[in-house]
Amino acid sequence: DKGEFRHYMMKEIYEQPNVISACLEGRISDSKVLTSCFGAESDFLKKVENIHIVACGTSYHAGMVAKYWIEELAGLPCSVEVASEYRYRKVAVPKNTLFLTLSQSGETADTLAALRMAKELNYLTTLAICNVPSSTLVRESALTLLTNAGAEIGVASTKAFTTQLTALLITSVAIAVENGLSAEKEKTLVQAMRSLPACVNEALQQDGHIKQIADKFANKHNALFLGRGAMFPIALEGSLKLKEISYIHAEAYPAGELKHGPLALVDEDMPIITLVPHNGMLDKIKSNLQEVAARGGELYVFADRETDLHNEENITFSEVPKVEAILEPIVHTIPLQLLSYHVAVVKGTDVDQPRNLAKSVTVE
Ligand code: M6R
Repeated sequence: DKGEFRHYMMKEIYEQPNVISACLEGRISDSKVLTSCFGAESDFLKKVENIHIVACGTSYHAGMVAKYWIEELAGLPCSVEVASEYRYRKVAVPKNTLFLTLSQSGETADTLAALRMAKELNYLTTLAICNVPSSTLVRESALTLLTNAGAEIGVASTKAFTTQLTALLITSVAIAVENGLSAEKEKTLVQAMRSLPACVNEALQQDGHIKQIADKFANKHNALFLGRGAMFPIALEGSLKLKEISYIHAEAYPAGELKHGPLALVDEDMPIITLVPHNGMLDKIKSNLQEVAARGGELYVFADRETDLHNEENITFSEVPKVEAILEPIVHTIPLQLLSYHVAVVKGTDVDQPRNLAKSVTVE
């Protein structure tokens, strides 16, 4: 039932504050991550020295964000790979490596094949972050952390992605605690997590504004998404959403790669969507924006007001709430979901059931 919404995708976008709460429920106290959420075998948190994350599509993008979190908070090496590549190569597994899969459906053929292969290798254990409790992935993994997003009907994944990120944040902090994260820092992170549903709700308030911007995209054939750090995977996710449902060709680059090639594409017809985090990268990304502006590129910037980008000429500014740095990738996802949704509606595509795509890719 779509309720008051025209499409499942929009209903699912608006469910995010609630399902993120459901994902956090029982997994954090006021100041700590509750390791009991990993079940009786939570001992792996003490032993893990390496993490291999394997997934497909949007779930892969969630894994890419987690790499930034895990290496920053826990200081452990983390690699992320698409399942269709992982399953067909010889993988070197260092001692005490956790094999972590991400999947909304838990039925993705490549992800299942990767898990089956990993079980033959010398991993510490296997953990699935998944949305479907009865899925094959959950059944076949040693450990599970459910995302609790509820059924996702729209082919374009939205609430499944942000709850995967929430579950990954819980996991990253739980691993970090065993690797020297102070109790004080843990508390700050947990309190940030507690504020997440409200932050996402605030990001949703920009819907009307983003709908207006979407009109300008409808006649575009290409779009370029830029981000740095943990915002780069969010740029990838934003470009995938736009491709999937509006059929506009979109690419995402780490902003620092601009000069290494993609800048050649920039002209008056190319919208550039830049995700601006409020951290040490702010000045760097501002200089990337200037490079694009100098070539006449049409600039769309998603940032909080304190970045002082809202008064810049030649920039279409969209406000994202100012949040703790760790939450920025999750909160910045929301306007990109809304943008792709509204562009698709303007173009009149089948939002919930885009051409050529299936909700669950159960064959290779
Ligand atoms: O069910 P999974 O998370 O394993 O699915 C993986 C991808 O097929 C999926 O994320 C796909 O990329 C979505 N359509 C993205 O919106």
